[in-house]
Amino acid sequence: MLDPLAPLVIDENSRQRTFPITRKKIFLSHAAVTTLPEPVARAMNEYNGLWTTGFPDYSETLALIADAKNTAAELIRAEPDEIALLGPTSLGLNLFALGIHWRPGDEVICYFEDYPANVYPWLGLQRQGVEVRFLRTENLGEITPEQVRANLTRKTRLVALASCHFVSGYRLDLAAIGRLLHEEEILFSVDAIQTLGAFPTTVEHVDFLSADAHKWLLGPVSIGVVFVRKDRFEICRPVLLGSRNIKSPGFVAQAEMEFMPSAQRYEPGVLNMPGVVGMRAAMRLLLDAGIERVAERIIGLRAYLGEGLRQLGFDQLGPAHPVNAAGILTVRHPRQDMPKLYERLTAADVVCSLRQDRQGNQYVRFSPHFYNTEAELDQVLKLIENAM
Ligand SMILES: Cc1ncc(COP(=O)(O)O)c(C=O)c1O
Repeated sequence: MLDPLAPLVIDENSRQRTFPITRKKIFLSHAAVTTLPEPVARAMNEYNGLWTTGFPDYSETLALIADAKNTAAELIRAEPDEIALLGPTSLGLNLFALGIHWRPGDEVICYFEDYPANVYPWLGLQRQGVEVRFLRTENLGEITPEQVRANLTRKTRLVALASCHFVSGYRLDLAAIGRLLHEEEILFSVDAIQTLGAFPTTVEHVDFLSADAHKWLLGPVSIGVVFVRKDRFEICRPVLLGSRNIKSPGFVAQAEMEFMPSAQRYEPGVLNMPGVVGMRAAMRLLLDAGIERVAERIIGLRAYLGEGLRQLGFDQLGPAHPVNAAGILTVRHPRQDMPKLYERLTAADVVCSLRQDRQGNQYVRFSPHFYNTEAELDQVLKLIENAM
């Protein structure tokens, strides 16, 4: 069978046409903010162009929104009416944290070393009397189903985790964690931005999910996928209120507020339509490539770069077992200065990130996507070797 990635990555001309950044830079920073593939930028430009000489009619707008929700639903295996098109990630997470009706004595479990966008919304609940408890891990981001189980108490109401740690790249077994939480009737909220678009990230055992499009999804900033399981609509009340999510016939405010029956109830006003159009094109590109195949390719590239760096004496953060590997490879060298290395790479048109842990240890983080090549990684390894 023809590899669905072949037309995008095997032929260098087509790779460069689809991912124009590859003509200028070696882009290994999808865990930060992605550049846009050409089809994504084109879709947004064409859409914006429409507004210079007129505007799309309302039925066209509704069709675009519906198609984007169908596409997002296909990606995470949800129902389209469980999707709201909102970003950034933190907006969705705050909608969950603030919308849930908390009861006295409720406990929330989260992870203090997570990206702040998935810590503060939960920490903020302390003001409402919610007890916020933190998971402890031996290694950064290594959250296993066993650990989650060991931390549950009779008061645990919700567990809030990220699908993959943004520094160590440890990818959680969401299905196993979600299954065990649902057996215990505990809600599960997932910050999915570090896996959505790169690894199968589906919601069979998830109640709430939020992910902006600006990383692995290869989309623009400040538009994302917010999922709320239909049977959780009632316990997660929309906290942002406007004309789009409360029935307002003829744009006339009503004394009795009735929410829209679908997840549109979380979208208070007009949507970021250029973002919706761009994210839809990005999701289509990834679905056509095949998420399983994309994931396999990313794992292969990560392992390739990891082995090259190991041979150069670098220590790696992250999973010991490939089953928990994601697209993030975070390294440091016992005798090299990481900020200096980062600067050298940046000057040589290699885009990566400099990150640190709570103790202040500094690391260089590489995050390749499926369209990067082994040849690019060889160039990076050569540059690093020469810089040492
Ligand atoms: C785990 C995680 N969550 C969320 C974000 C981004 O949050 P937001 O989309 O609210 O800016 C990042 C960005 O690095 C992240 O790594």
